Amino acid sequence: MGDDEIKRYPDAVLRRVAKPVRKINRQMRDLLEDMARVMRRARGVGLAAPQIGISRRVIVVDVGDGLIELVNPELVHGEGSETAVEGCLSVPGKVGEVTRYQKVVVSGLNRSGHRVWVEAEGLLARALQHEIDHLDGTLFLDRAQNVREVTPAPRVVLCATGEFAIPLLERLAEEGFEVAALVTRPDRPSGRGLRPAGPPIKERAVELGIPVWQPASLRTGDIAEQLAAAGPDFLVVADFGRILPPDMLATPRVAAVNLHPSLLPRWRGPAPVERAIMAGDAVTGVTTLHMTDEVDAGDIILQREVPISPDDTGGTLREKLSRAGADLMVETLELLLRGEGDRQPQDAARATYAAELSSEDEFIDWNREAAAIVRQVRALQPRPGARTYWGQRQLKVGEARVHAAGGPPGQVLALDSDGFVVGAGDGGVLVLRVQPEGRAYMGAAEFLRGYRLEVGDRLGKEA
Ligand code: CO
Repeated sequence: MGDDEIKRYPDAVLRRVAKPVRKINRQMRDLLEDMARVMRRARGVGLAAPQIGISRRVIVVDVGDGLIELVNPELVHGEGSETAVEGCLSVPGKVGEVTRYQKVVVSGLNRSGHRVWVEAEGLLARALQHEIDHLDGTLFLDRAQNVREVTPAPRVVLCATGEFAIPLLERLAEEGFEVAALVTRPDRPSGRGLRPAGPPIKERAVELGIPVWQPASLRTGDIAEQLAAAGPDFLVVADFGRILPPDMLATPRVAAVNLHPSLLPRWRGPAPVERAIMAGDAVTGVTTLHMTDEVDAGDIILQREVPISPDDTGGTLREKLSRAGADLMVETLELLLRGEGDRQPQDAARATYAAELSSEDEFIDWNREAAAIVRQVRALQPRPGARTYWGQRQLKVGEARVHAAGGPPGQVLALDSDGFVVGAGDGGVLVLRVQPEGRAYMGAAEFLRGYRLEVGDRLGKEA
């Protein structure tokens, strides 16, 4: 039973006087459980049985202090009065001002059939009166003044771990989406003290007041139930690094949507940003797609191109893509909410795969053409960095340019005030910034002053 089971005004069942319950049996307890689940899923603070089409005198209420279940409830006392804005799950999109008793005593039977009395004030008193009204066929609209339309914020659960998704999280919050939760990885020991720390996006979520879930597993435990209880319109996945099981993907009311930083079907897989730079692509982009059980293979909703500039690094390009992606996702969700958005199947024949970066990808092969080496250096900045050997020592290369001079691959051909030139498969590479082991990145000129690199030295794995 989901949101869709809630009967909406002007359904006739909402106008009937509900019948008292004669006997509290197993069926009645099942009904109470169904009602609590529907209420929570819909994020209501109360629900009456007629609202799910059952014309019996049963209500559940939870304003945050625990669940109250009442069979055959009656208002036995009311005092004071208070006016506040009220809405109803059966009258979506409308609120109005309703004056009710400020304090009440309600009597009814609990799930064991024992008589109980509930003393309440404020919001709880209001919710009890509202639900008892439902049993008499009365809606808040009948008592309300200044009824106005409200658009409920679409509810999103965001699954994300990497920093890539931080602009997305911020945009969703800014654009009036209700981010019901951030699902991210558990805290891990990190830093020098190995203190457990969460991913940076967790901190941002906490600052924005968004609940954070960090399940150890997505397949066991109660994450799927937790997600279902949140009743999201959308499940949005970006830079998550974990595969979502089908039961989670099936949960959202509208869609499960993934943001991928490439123009799919090019560069499916975990390292699309680096692979696009390494391959010398002039243009990449962002794609929003429907999620399926096959990774990055779902139907495309929207795409936006982002040019790769000649000085883009993995870091700068990722940042551009994360901002473009945040915009594109907001646009995508708005489109889907209007019931629009084409599904464009991917042409699997044109798919390429962006494999995870390995340590093999980090080592510079000086036999390759100079332009490819320079692209490798750019792609791997700021992390993990392209490396080479200089004798027994490792050296990371942080910045490099193609140079006209040519010579044996891996050989230091010239030293000058900007840096040093190394022979490549064709021409040479001018190295401008390096990081010696155990040191920070420094300009190549500074490196040359402190280290005894000489013309004729060999760089590379075989050195
Ligand atoms: Co109601």
